[in-house]
Formats: sequence, structure tokens, C-alpha cells
Amino acid sequence: YVIGVDLGTSAVKTVLVDRSGTVVAEHSEAYPLSQPKPGYSEQRPEDWVDKTVLSLRLLMEGNDISPAEVEGLSFSGQMHGLVLVDGEGVVLRPAILWNDTRTTAQCRRIEDTLQEKLLGIARNRALEGFTLPKILWVQEFEPELLDQAALFLLPKDYVRYRLTGQYTMDYSDAAGTLLLDVAGKSWSADILDAFHLPHSFCPPLVESFDECGTLLPEIARQSGLRPETKVFAGGADNACGAIGAGILEEGQTMCSIGTSGVVLSYEERREVDFEGKVHFFNHSERDAYYIMGVTLAAGYSLTWFKDTFAPDVSFDELLSDIGSIPAGSNGLLFTPYIVGERTPHPDAAIRGSFIGMDAGHELPHFARSVLEGITFSLRESIDILRASGKQIDRVISIGGGAKNETWLQMQADVFNAEIVKLESEQGPAMGAAMLAAYGCGWFPSLQDCAREFLRPARAYSPDPEAVQVYDKLFGLYQSVYGATRELGA
Ligand code: XUL
Repeated sequence: YVIGVDLGTSAVKTVLVDRSGTVVAEHSEAYPLSQPKPGYSEQRPEDWVDKTVLSLRLLMEGNDISPAEVEGLSFSGQMHGLVLVDGEGVVLRPAILWNDTRTTAQCRRIEDTLQEKLLGIARNRALEGFTLPKILWVQEFEPELLDQAALFLLPKDYVRYRLTGQYTMDYSDAAGTLLLDVAGKSWSADILDAFHLPHSFCPPLVESFDECGTLLPEIARQSGLRPETKVFAGGADNACGAIGAGILEEGQTMCSIGTSGVVLSYEERREVDFEGKVHFFNHSERDAYYIMGVTLAAGYSLTWFKDTFAPDVSFDELLSDIGSIPAGSNGLLFTPYIVGERTPHPDAAIRGSFIGMDAGHELPHFARSVLEGITFSLRESIDILRASGKQIDRVISIGGGAKNETWLQMQADVFNAEIVKLESEQGPAMGAAMLAAYGCGWFPSLQDCAREFLRPARAYSPDPEAVQVYDKLFGLYQSVYGATRELGA
């Protein structure tokens, strides 16, 4: 057996997986998120460690598998969060998380200082969520803390340090710091020097499937696992989500619809230039990358709609009639910018809209148009990837968007691609378990592991008529952004 640990933003999830890829047990433990000021989002690294160890213990107690049968474990982690530790490994302040937005001024400073070097080296634009802006914020507002810091870690790297006593960071997570030379796979001296950060501030880099030691005796005792259990580096949650959906070869793309929505494609061309329109990160597979577009309010648009306009019905009831409404919702069009947008418009101020309302529209028309608007937004990311020469004929759909048949067919029609749903889906936790399985030598490659572990359940082919309807509407959808910009400003 192997264990996948998914260190998320609201909870840590652990899964125990056998050699066929079957999840034989899982357990989840929540931890708090604190917002001491508007835009701030912080967590206590100690909570992550406590809950991870507790979750491992309860995972093992919940079944009769002997700890001796667990060969290894690995991680998936929420990206970008800043953990500062001193020379003794003591945490200096609460972690500043990926969804903390206090760093707009620091982002501007990064863009102004580095100019085109930033995209050349780090391959991504400076966004509030990324790590370097957070480091610069501490440098500016808590300089004495930065002076005390021996190095910085990302969330799962801190937990792994506490489990093994060793400092490392894998490339897929390091790619989200803006300090990594993404194509060169090394810390960027240029960027570190530009902001007067010592090179010793960055932990040693490893591959996601590299072994980083075994469990410390104390941790083994508390978790119920053996001290010999191997610990593998693990990866960023998006990289692990990609592995868990089998996105491991050129031509493979996934669409993940949770609170936010992600379109993610495997990428081997390290020099391809997306001008910062999509994220370009190292994959957890060796020498591979992934490109990713984000819709900020995907599932969140639907939740908002239901909570606001249909609080008394369940999601199933809300969506039960949308299949009988034609593609295009009889002229009703929604843009999902209710909390701003990321791809293709990095615009925090834009807001959403319903247009084309008719006295004959009822609740199901609105529900369907919300799904269509979310799907159009994801199509914008698909089009950016296609414009780079990438072929997207088949998309693995995961998350909440893969739970509704009408929405799956809608994705096929809006993306004009075959949509595939997996038999069982564990997301990033499965990707983490697969890194451990590959690290343990169970398979000659991650692809072989994916072939054994992941099974397609059903495919949805595009319907040519609906494709035409949506193509036309998509043009209109794209023009709404420019026409409504003033509303949010
Ligand atoms: C990616 C990002 C999020 C976090 C969520 O850039 O900010 O997907 O990784 O955990």
C-alpha cells in the first residue's frame, strides 16, 4: 500500500491505496483559516502538522491493514503559501496563503524591477497569490522577521520537513514561487539578487517522486506508521490533480470544476511562449510542464446562484430540468465574473452579468445559462492553448462539473472535444499516492501507474448542431467582457 496526503486549504485528506489503484480507506481532518484583515488569509503550519499526523493515525485505525504493509507516502499541497522558518526550523509567523491578496503593490514592484526577465525566467506574471510577493511584503512590513528567517518553505514542504527532519522543495511547487528558473530547473540568482534575498533562503530542489527520507520515530509513534515508511517529495495540488486524472503525455488535457475551474494541459515544449496569458509550471513528471488557465468562480458561480435565487432546492433539483432546455438557454447569457476573473482577463474588478432576459425565462433557464457561462469561460482557456498549436480533441473532466450528465455533454459541445469521465476520482490525493507508488518502484513510469490506477467510465461526443449554436454564442460571450468593464471599475 501507499498513502497520498492532500494538504488542502480547508482540510487535509489522506487516502490509502493498494497496488491496483483502489482506495481502501480515506480520512479527512479540517483546520481553520484566519482572515485577520480584509484580503488576508493565513493558517498555522502547526495545525497542518497536527491534523496530518492525526489523519494518518485515523486512516490506519479505520482498517485492518498492518502498518508494515504501507511502503511509502507522498504529498499534494496547496500552492504558493509562504512559511518562514529560522535556523532551528521554528516557524516565524503564520503562513500567508495562496488566496491572500495583500500583495498588489509588491506584484507591481516585481513587474517593474524585472520587466521582461520575469516572464523569461519564472514564466508567469506576478500575481498576488504567488510566493515572492509575499516574501517582499514581509521584507517591507516585518523586516526583523525576514532577518531571522533561515529559509522559506511551501505548505506541504513544511509538513514533510516535520515528518522527516529534511528540507526540500519539488520543482512543481517551486514553480509557483516566481523564484524558479522554470525551464532551467534551478533557483534564479537573477531574481534573488534583484530583491536582495540570500541564495541560502531557498531549500534544495528535488523531483516530486524523489525519496526525502523516512518518518521520524516520534511521528511514526504518533501516526501508527513504521519509521521505515518512505516519504516522497510530492507536488503542487494542480500537478497532482493532473497526475490523478492521467494528464501525463502530450495531447492530454483536463477540465476540473470545483469552486474555481481549471483547464490544464500537459506540455513538453519548454520554450513555447504564452505571454503570461496562462500559468506555465513544472509538472511532477520529470522534465515536463503543464499550462493552466483558471476561471475564478466556476462551481462558485453555481453555488452563489443557488444560494441567492433558489436557497430551498437542492443542486439536483435545481439542475433536474436543464436537460430539456435547448443549447443557448433560449437567449439567456451569463458571464461568471462574480469575483473577478483570471484567464483570459487577469482582472479583479470585472463583474458578472445576465443578459438577454425574457419574460418567458424560468429558474431552469437561469441555471442552465450559469453552467453555459462557466463553460464558455473555460473554453477561453482551451482556445489559448489551441492557439499555441496544441491539439485538444479529448478532455478528462473531473470535480463537480463531472457529476452532471447535461453539464458533461455541454462541455463536449462548448469545447468541441470528446469529454471523458473517470470511473472513480480522488483528485490530487490520488496523484500524491501515484507519486509514492512510482517512487516505491511499483511501476516503470508514472504513465504505467496511470494505466493501472485510472479507468475511464464514459465518454461524451460533441453534437455538431449544439457545437454550432455554442460557437456563435461564444463570440457574443467574449464581447460582453469589454462591454461591461466599466460596471466593475
Ligand atoms: C494555483 C492556485 C490554486 C492553489 C489552490 O495557482 O493558486 O490552485 O494551488 O490550492
